[in-house]
Amino acid sequence: MPVLPGRRASGHATDRRSRMVRSSASPALAGLRVFLTGASSGLGQAFARHYAQRGAQLGLVARRTDALSQLAAGLPGEHLVLPADVGDGAALADAARTYLARVGVPDIVIANAGVSVGTLTECAEDLPAFERVMRTNVNGIVASFQPFVDAMRERGSGRLVGIASVAGIRGLPGAGAYSASKAAAIAYLESLRVELRGSGVRVVTLAPGYIATPMTAVNPYPMPFILQADEAARRMAKLIDAGRGYAVVPWQMGVVARVLRALPNPVFDALFARAGRKPRGLPL
Ligand SMILES: NC(=O)c1ccc[n+]([C@@H]2O[C@H](COP(=O)([O-])OP(=O)(O)OC[C@H]3O[C@@H](n4cnc5c(N)ncnc54)[C@H](OP(=O)(O)O)[C@@H]3O)[C@@H](O)[C@H]2O)c1
Repeated sequence: MPVLPGRRASGHATDRRSRMVRSSASPALAGLRVFLTGASSGLGQAFARHYAQRGAQLGLVARRTDALSQLAAGLPGEHLVLPADVGDGAALADAARTYLARVGVPDIVIANAGVSVGTLTECAEDLPAFERVMRTNVNGIVASFQPFVDAMRERGSGRLVGIASVAGIRGLPGAGAYSASKAAAIAYLESLRVELRGSGVRVVTLAPGYIATPMTAVNPYPMPFILQADEAARRMAKLIDAGRGYAVVPWQMGVVARVLRALPNPVFDALFARAGRKPRGLPL
């Protein structure tokens, strides 16, 4: 099993090493190449299972090398483990270079890595969380796509998928950093979608409602229409195949999102003033 040399990544990453892990593959999507960030947990793991079960060859990116290696070892097919912090453009460029050299130009890039934590502007100790959330959830998407855009455009096909959130549709109290990051992600992805119009490369913005993952396990409030991660990944993969420009998953949250967007500010403010809040001070 080949192991490429690596360096140490930032955050809680261990060695940044790419590792090819092999086992048997199903032929359904054999040859499909998928570069996936945030693969070590939750929705990312579910995407990895979904595409690997269909024979795709994955580039698995996250900070935790052990979790990625364990995931890759349990998947059918042959995959690259590419530990990197998506907030570190150079680390991601390295991971992308390795994927391009070893696997080729991806058909799908899924910028799924993200962090969520409660934040309050009046608390100075939350400033690093604001920075970390914006860097991971916004810059991380840009850095995940950047190394592949030219090659995909030249080939005239591909999907650049950004995982946003319904939390980006209105500013949720106690989650200023997360809501701002997801609103920024939605706007950034829209810019890119228009820039790449007619190139054959589709930009897909997916805004999930609630998905049962470690990110939501700490939420102390009701989560309507929550999906299991495998089901969410299955539904999102269909939208990715279809090249949908923008979609909320599940559709019921799409209705909620449209209503939220239409609410006049005084009504929204009154409704959400007492909404449950994400805990502050979570590890990022
Ligand atoms: N769960 C929901 O209800 C929900 C709803 C709307 C949107 N989303 C979005 O869906 C995406 C996946 O979330 P999830 O629910 O699956 O959360 P999760 O279980 O906490 O997984 C987050 C993933 O992102 C990776 N990650 C975090 N920071 C990173 C960094 N700096 N560099 C590289 N990887 C990083 C984590 O891996 P490492 O820790 O190993 O780096 C992990 O694999 C996120 O963008 C999230 O905002 C989730």
